[in-house]
Order: sequence, then C-alpha cells, then structure tokens
Amino acid sequence: MSAAEALRLKRAYLLPCVHHFYRDPPLIVAADDCELLDSTGRRYFDFFSGVTVVNAGHCNGEIVAAAGAQMGRLDHTTGIYLTEPVLRLAERLSQIAPGGLKRSFFCASGSEANEAALLLAAIHTGRGDFIAFSDSLHGRTKAAMSATGLAMWRCDPALLANFHFAPHGGEPGALDALEALVARVGPRRIAALIAEPVLGNGGIVIPPPDYWPAVRGLCDRHGILLIFDEVQTGMNRTGRWWACEHWNASPDILTTAKALGNGYPVAAVIATDRVGEGFTRPFASTFGGNPVAAAAALATIDFHVRHGLGQRSRERGAQLLQRLRELAAEVGLARPRGLGLMVAADVVGCGGEPDPQRLDGLLEALKDRGFLCGKTGRNRNVLTLMPPLTLSAGQIERFGVALREAHAAARDE
Ligand SMILES: Cc1ncc(COP(=O)(O)O)c(C=O)c1O
Repeated sequence: MSAAEALRLKRAYLLPCVHHFYRDPPLIVAADDCELLDSTGRRYFDFFSGVTVVNAGHCNGEIVAAAGAQMGRLDHTTGIYLTEPVLRLAERLSQIAPGGLKRSFFCASGSEANEAALLLAAIHTGRGDFIAFSDSLHGRTKAAMSATGLAMWRCDPALLANFHFAPHGGEPGALDALEALVARVGPRRIAALIAEPVLGNGGIVIPPPDYWPAVRGLCDRHGILLIFDEVQTGMNRTGRWWACEHWNASPDILTTAKALGNGYPVAAVIATDRVGEGFTRPFASTFGGNPVAAAAALATIDFHVRHGLGQRSRERGAQLLQRLRELAAEVGLARPRGLGLMVAADVVGCGGEPDPQRLDGLLEALKDRGFLCGKTGRNRNVLTLMPPLTLSAGQIERFGVALREAHAAARDE
C-alpha cells in the first residue's frame, strides 16, 4: 500500500476525529528500537515514542518473545478465572509503586484506568466532587474527559459538572488558587484531586519542588484523596519509575498505561490497601489482566531493570536538554525544560507570543531530515521530545544537527 492509498482509505473509512501530523504523512510499516520505517523504505528516528509508549524501544526482542510465548500458551480468559501472569504483575507493580501502593485493578487504556481511579475515590470517600487542573489530559471517556482541562480534548458537549478546575502547578500563585477552590467547593464534598505530576499534553510543565508536597498536605488535611495520573510520566520517562518520586509525594491512587506494556495495551490503577480494600462490589474489564498483556508488562519491567532505563533516561535526558539549551537562541526556541527524557521548548514569535504555525513548519522540516517529533501545549506551540529511553548519545547529537538544519529550512520556506 502507498501512503496516498492509505490516506484515501483513512479519509473514506475512519471517523474524521482521527487527526494525523504532517501535510504528507508517511505510511509507517515497521519499526526497530528508535527507528521507524515507511512504505518507501525511508527511516525516521522516533522522538515521540508513540506518545511515550515504546520507552524500551520498538519491537523490543525480549518483550516480543515473552508476549509471543504467552500468546501461544494461553491468550485470553478474562478475570473470572485465576491466571498467573496478572497476579505476578500485580505483585511486581506493588514492588515498584511509590509510597506503599499495593492493590491493582487492570484494564486496557489510560482513559479506562482514570475512569476506574475516579470511581474508586468516590466509593472510598462517599463524596462526589473532584478537583482537576488546567491544561491536563486524563482521557476520552466521560469522567476522564470531564477531568481534562485542555480545551481541545473536551469535545463532549455534555461533560460532568462535578469537576472543578484549579490552575496547574506551574502557574504563579497555583497553590493559593487551589486552596481557594477547595474552600469554595467545600472540602467535605471533594472525593479526590486528579493530576499529572508533570503536564504532558499540556506542554511539559514541571511544578516547583515544594508544590506536590504542599498539595499532598492539603489533601491530608481535608481527607481528600490524591490521584496521580502517571499514564504519560510513568515507567522511567522522567528518569524515575514514577514522576512523583522527584517530589517525594506519593498518591493514594496511581494510574499507569502507555509504556507499561511497551506497545501492548495494558493499564492499571494501583491503590493503597486502605483505599483499595473497600471496593468489594463487582467491577471488571474484559481485557484487563489479559495474560499476554500481563506477560508483556512483566517483560517490560524486567527490561527496564536489567538495562538501567531509569539511569539512561536521566543521562540522555540531561544531554538532550543541554543540547536544546545550547541551540535555543539560534533556532528560536524559548524555555527549554525537561525531566529525564521528557524534554520540551516553546516556539514563540518575536514578541514572545506562541507561534504554532512556525512549530508546524519546524516539525515538517525535521520529518524531512528523518526525525519525528511531538507537539503539545495549550497553544500547540511546544516542541516535545520523548524518544525511547534506549536512545544513544550519538542519536542525540544527530538530532542537534537536524534541528539546526530544519530551523534554517523552515525559516527560508
Ligand atoms: C496523562 C494522560 N492520561 C490519560 C491518557 C489517556 O490514555 P489512553 O489514550 O490510553 O486512553 C493520556 C493519553 O493520551 C495521557 O497522556
């Protein structure tokens, strides 16, 4: 199939809500570690990782072998029978989860995990209201979308009214505004506060060091649960298993998906014993805890440990951020920032205003030089770099060269 034929089928048979990057999108046919291959034989470095899914690299041989072996042995039962991989995965997650989180519920996507986390918080507290944050993204199901702050991801015309929004933790005065909101809603009505420790789709916003510990304290004072959505930030993306570890602030409930299965759909809600043990009414997800998904997740966690992906994320992330800082003035990027291999910078105009058109031009020019990068932020002007954590130092240097060339080409266009 050619890219033109793929585009024709997409336009004819997919709902038009499924958008793609690039004027002439490549048709991706294969992948290996940090590289993608298109239908014309062209190779690209993947600097977005399927939005931070393939943290352990594309088509990782060890993970594929574990999932393949499990698929040939037992591929599906659903949770009404006992199977071993899901129980081993639950035990393994309790060992790497922050702050003594222990009990898991498995499902198939980040949206589903956040939906379940909000439900668990409502059941545990008997309360019905939630606090969420501006510029957040928690998913596309009803409650998860209602908790989402980013306007572009709130397409449902009838979202739930029991979600109240505070400015995110990177905004000046965020903590005071949050305290005022909690007081206005009434702390005894609030079941939980749901947050990404580092805003992903909202533009890679890293709150200051005292922010999450202060929010944790606020929740504790009012008996409000803290849910950290680590769907994007988890699995060593920021250089630790979970981004919240950078702040030493543990949630009552954590959600993970995306990189947990390194491309295989698996997601989990992990709660403390105290919060989890009261959820005794029947609840389920047909694909949750699927043996193949669980085997893929177990192999993914093993791969992260054996190959030191946390440390690689920290080291390569520091190198990539340093390179971005060195090039920022020359290539017209503002506020380079990052945590591990979650790295970004703003594309702005002469007066400092967001310039999404220039970012689009830069992304096209980077693609033409073999680098597929990301775009995030409220104004869609944040160049976002989240390559697989297996990336080499040499690949980062090649990215630096491509960025300079792409800037010059986009400027001259
Ligand atoms: C932080 C965060 N939470 C939740 C989601 C939703 O996950 P999924 O697309 O797997 O439903 C996403 C992904 O888009 C995300 O980035």
